[in-house]
Order: sequence, then C-alpha cells, then structure tokens
Amino acid sequence: MDNKILVTQTSMPSFDEYCEEIKSVWDSKWLTNNGPIHNKFKSQLADKMNCDNIELFVNGHQALVNVIKSMGLSGEIITTPFTFASTTNAIIEAGLVPVFCDVKLDDYTLDSSKIEDLITDKTCAIMPVHVFGYICDIDAINDIAKKHDLKVIYDAAHAFSVKYKGQDIANYGDCSMFSFHATKVFNTIEGGCLVFTDSALSENIAMYRNFGLNPLTGDIEICGSNAKMNEFQAAMGICNLRHLDNEIAKRKIVSDKYDELLSSVDGISIMSAQADVDRNYAYYPIVIDDQVYPLDRELLIELLNENNIFPRKYFYPSLNDTKAYKGLYKGVTPNSSQISERVICLPMYADLDVSSVEKICSIIWSVNR
Ligand SMILES: Cc1ncc(COP(=O)(O)O)c(C=O)c1O
Repeated sequence: MDNKILVTQTSMPSFDEYCEEIKSVWDSKWLTNNGPIHNKFKSQLADKMNCDNIELFVNGHQALVNVIKSMGLSGEIITTPFTFASTTNAIIEAGLVPVFCDVKLDDYTLDSSKIEDLITDKTCAIMPVHVFGYICDIDAINDIAKKHDLKVIYDAAHAFSVKYKGQDIANYGDCSMFSFHATKVFNTIEGGCLVFTDSALSENIAMYRNFGLNPLTGDIEICGSNAKMNEFQAAMGICNLRHLDNEIAKRKIVSDKYDELLSSVDGISIMSAQADVDRNYAYYPIVIDDQVYPLDRELLIELLNENNIFPRKYFYPSLNDTKAYKGLYKGVTPNSSQISERVICLPMYADLDVSSVEKICSIIWSVNR
C-alpha cells in the first residue's frame, strides 16, 4: 500500500491544527444547524469569492439538487454528458429532464455552438460543467442564456479558486456549485456550496436545505431535504483554507512537470492552459490516441498498475452511454463518447513529488520509443 501512487491524495491540516479548530465544539455542544464554526467559514468563503449570496451544504450533489428546486425550474436542462454522474442525477432527482449537448475536443467543456439547436419551449436552464477545473465558454453561454431567457447553473465542482479575467469563477452565471469532497483541491471532508446572484433565492435555498422549514413561522412550507454542513466539516474547511494557496502552488509544480515531460509523446494529448484563467490544477487528464500511441488506454492503465501507479478513467462512461441513461435523453454527443473512451486522469495532488511524476512519465515514454 505504502508505495502505491493513487490518482489523488486528500489535503489535510495537521492533527493539532484541526483539534484546535474543533475545541470549542466541546464547550458549546453545538454540532450542526448553522453553528458558529459554520457561520465563520461561510463568511470566510464569501470574502474569498467576493460574493454576496452563499449557502453551505453537506455535499455538492445536494447543493445542485437544491438550487434547481429553489429556482422553481421545470422542463428541460441542457447539460454535458462528460461529467460525474452527479450533474445528470441532480437534474433528474429535481424532477427535470436532461438534454445532452456535446463537448469540445480541446477542453472537454460544453460546446456552446451546439446549445441553441437543443433549445425548445421546454428548456429552462443550461447546466455546464467547468470540468477538471477548465472553464466553459462563459461569455458565449451567457449571451445564449440572455437571448433565450434561460438560467445558467454552473457545476463548478472542480473549479474552486479558479479565476476568469481576474474574477473568482463563482461570479459567473446565475449560480455556481462547488464540491468540497475529500478528493477535491479544497475539502471539508464532504461538503459543498452554492454561490448565487439573486438574493431572493436565499430563503428557498435555506428552506430546502432544512426539510422545508420556515424558521420564522415554524411551518413546513415546501418538501425539503436535510443538506446542512456540520461544524466538523466547516472546521476542516477553515483549516484547509489557510493552506489553499500553497496547495495550488504545489499542484502547479506537478502540472508543469507533467507538461514538460508529456508534451511531445506521440498519440498522447495533454490540455493547454486557457487564456485569462488562473488555474487550480485540479486534475491532470491525458487522452490516448491508440492509432498513434502503441498502447490503448486499458493497456496503458495495466502497465501503470504493474508499476504501482493508479490513474482513473475520469469520466467513463460518458453519461449518455451509461446503463442508467443510455437512449433515454435527447442529444448526439460523439465527442463526449470519444473522450470518455480514451481519457485517463494521472495522479495529481499537492504532495506528489517530482520524482514520482518523472517515474510515471518515463513509463508512458517507455513504450513510445
Ligand atoms: C462534476 C461533479 N459534479 C458534482 C459532484 C458532486 O459533488 P459531491 O461529491 O460533493 O457531492 C462531483 C463530485 O465529485 C463532480 O465531480
């Protein structure tokens, strides 16, 4: 186990730092339901993202379901199949219908030139994903949404701390959801948040997050869920926030090393940096063209596994090809299927040492000579 290099490793504060942060819980005995640590963390996040409206959640998935319900949406949502199941699941769980739009081959985000063809009188929103921390065509998506009076809900699960044109990515679209799962650049063990522009949504979002309870009247006004972030999660967030910039700087070193060593392997594509974007280096995806590279994806994974290296097939299958959803929803998405069949995410985390990156890359090179 010890010398296995896994696809990710969770960033954690020191044990003492975390204990210090949760000490007050033993005095207050206030474990959840908007406690003082939760509120402190919430205001730290609002400052960091420079946003007025934010709500914290037990996880990112519940946050996505919540905002669809809180906006009172119905009908169809145009989204990408090249994502984690949560994006599509949330739409369906909230009682709406996903419509799959294809993605671009260069950055795997929604192809904005294909969105308008999918708009019908039932379309109420677009749910793009800043996949792997690469941002979508924000300006084009915004123009389409304005023209057709649609909401834009970004699944920004991978994009915490990313900036576009100097502004935190949270400030684009009607709403952005961030995941703070243990596998993410920044974690609260499990957790997530919504950042939204319309302050009138706050009341609904808070009620859906807490069983539909109106705190003023004590009445149950809507059929809500239980999706609150607890004090232990928030304390982990407060600690991890202190170290975030350093973690991202360390990830950049790993990413730069991969770029340097993999940019000229025939048949392996790496992703380029995007203009006007400050990255978070959340993942390191590569796409294998087995017409050119001597191994197909499965064989390359096998070879890496034999060397104790464990990349992951993120995201596979493309959601339109999954057992749950195959053939059920509209959309023709060959690019998404093609990338899903060929992509792997290489190990990427702040404490991955450069010698491990060199080892991984030399194995990838070894069959190419
Ligand atoms: C693209 C995407 N959306 C949504 C989620 C759901 O987030 P969470 O795990 O915090 O519920 C994830 C989780 O990994 C994800 O990768």
